[in-house]
Amino acid sequence: MNPAVDTLMKELGFPKENIPVCIETGTHRGWGTESFSKYFKRVYTIELSQELFEYCTETYKNLSNIRFLQGHSPELLPEIVKNLPKYFLFLDAHGSGGDTTFHDQVGRLGSPAIQEILACKENPPEYIVIDDLQDFDMIPSYPKRSQIWEAVSSIGSYEGSVINLYKGWFVFKKR
Ligand SMILES: C[S@@+](CC[C@H](N)C(=O)[O-])C[C@H]1O[C@@H](n2cnc3c(N)ncnc32)[C@H](O)[C@@H]1O
Repeated sequence: MNPAVDTLMKELGFPKENIPVCIETGTHRGWGTESFSKYFKRVYTIELSQELFEYCTETYKNLSNIRFLQGHSPELLPEIVKNLPKYFLFLDAHGSGGDTTFHDQVGRLGSPAIQEILACKENPPEYIVIDDLQDFDMIPSYPKRSQIWEAVSSIGSYEGSVINLYKGWFVFKKR
């Protein structure tokens, strides 16, 4: 379980009956995924590391509302979102040292957030939440807030806000 997810969900007023699905990018050890599974009917989570994917598939095999997927998140997202009802998108895929991994196109000190947002353009989410906003502000090779805004605005009309708890969340809600 990840207590930060409970804080985020409380701040945003989830669960919401009309938003039954969550997509998380960056599963790691499934701590956030397990927490999201309490707030949504179905959770999709994408992890690049084969080892972490296998660990989570085994560890959470009794949680039937989670679908674990392995791969580079921007490549998998278009197929996942294609036929989804309203959904919540939580972006947390980035290399963070330790047992985490990263995609060569992104680099260890980067985030695929822009590519992930654009990958959802055919069926944009109700919410887009960028985790670890402090990293985006502090690490020069991460996308800038203005670049994230630009990507979000290109897929739909959203209002943006920041929640300054834990490492900060950038939150976009569809108008
Ligand atoms: C910060 S951790 C995720 C933490 C997790 N969401 C939680 O709440 O505990 C980031 C994870 O993203 C994975 N990752 C890195 N690049 C990725 C990519 N392009 N696609 C999918 N997963 C990726 C890393 O291997 C790592 O496990």
